[in-house]
Amino acid sequence: MDTQILSATAHETARIAADIIQNGGLVAIPTETVYGLGANGLDPEAVVKIFEAKGRPQDNPLILHVADASQITDFCHSIPDSAWRLAEAFWPGPLTMVLPARDTVPKRTTAGLPTVAVRCPDCAVTRDIIRLAGVPLAAPSANISGKPSTTTAQHVYHDHKGNIPLIVDGGACRVGVESTIIDLTENPPRLLRPGGITPEQLTEVLGAVTVDKAVTAQIAGDAVVKAPGMKYKHYAPACSVVIVDGSSEKAAACIRSRFTPGDRVLCFAEELPLYEGCNPLAYGSEAAPDTLSAGLFAALRELDDPSIGTLYARCPIGGGISYAIRNRLEKAAAFQHINAEVEA
Ligand code: TXA
Ligand code: MG
Repeated sequence: MDTQILSATAHETARIAADIIQNGGLVAIPTETVYGLGANGLDPEAVVKIFEAKGRPQDNPLILHVADASQITDFCHSIPDSAWRLAEAFWPGPLTMVLPARDTVPKRTTAGLPTVAVRCPDCAVTRDIIRLAGVPLAAPSANISGKPSTTTAQHVYHDHKGNIPLIVDGGACRVGVESTIIDLTENPPRLLRPGGITPEQLTEVLGAVTVDKAVTAQIAGDAVVKAPGMKYKHYAPACSVVIVDGSSEKAAACIRSRFTPGDRVLCFAEELPLYEGCNPLAYGSEAAPDTLSAGLFAALRELDDPSIGTLYARCPIGGGISYAIRNRLEKAAAFQHINAEVEA
């Protein structure tokens, strides 16, 4: 199969994509977070193709993407007030809500769960495709399962060329990490995955929020977790990754003392001069954490190389978008840390 790449701004693109979706096919779609691999979320046979193309475990449910908030009443029931407040504040945008599912949503999409995850992406062409197709799009991140997410059309082409008919090219994703997932079937609501909407923004609308244990610690493969995707090894480049915490100077001294040829360093742009001779790659500026989230997955994909020994990664701390960046890097590192302030 030929894989076409069409610009999001070209006149016919949304129509062509919608036709493929209506005929049960797959289309890679841009969003503000990461690229998704979309299909008609109400057609179990179309949804199966997503799992096959990604090599995704069947027990990992998909997010249903809608064109506007009013659509969720077709797919969810017992919708609490808080869902409407969140939609008002953050949709279209990088927030996914878990709500009780109606029978209209196939078990293939929810992986048999009684709930469904819904989100309205902040990307005009993707909402146009949903409207023109007349169905919600089930779409996971477009990467092959277990690999770093795709934030450009070229990343998607690398993973799926010859296997899907169309990639809609909307340029590089603005946010760069996946949406925040909040489970509204619990009280207080539970944060299942940090993302583009920050913990501070959530608490402003919801008051108290519980943080799921899968956000901050490694979960055993056989554990029962709220977001099944959180238990899989995720965002993992082919080499072993370790996060090095501490000041720029202490971290550089610590990494330099351990560095052997073939290792790599993933750092902040401000730190590049500290790693001369260590083959560093900067993924954004420490002073502007949104550049770190936008650049993270492109950098992890570039470093997805089994010939690398150890990848030493610098990682922001604190709230805001840094909380999501840290979560992705901790998953890539299987929660391995060195604290350069106490260990040389
Ligand atoms: O930003 C995003 O959310 C991107 C773009 C394409 O929209 N999508 C995305 O999908 O990241 P995916 O499949 O890579 O991650 C979705 C996560 C998985 O961890 C999955 O287990 C969880 O959402 N999930 C889906 N439905 C759920 C449900 N009903 N209850 C709990 N977790 C759910
Ligand atoms: Mg994913």
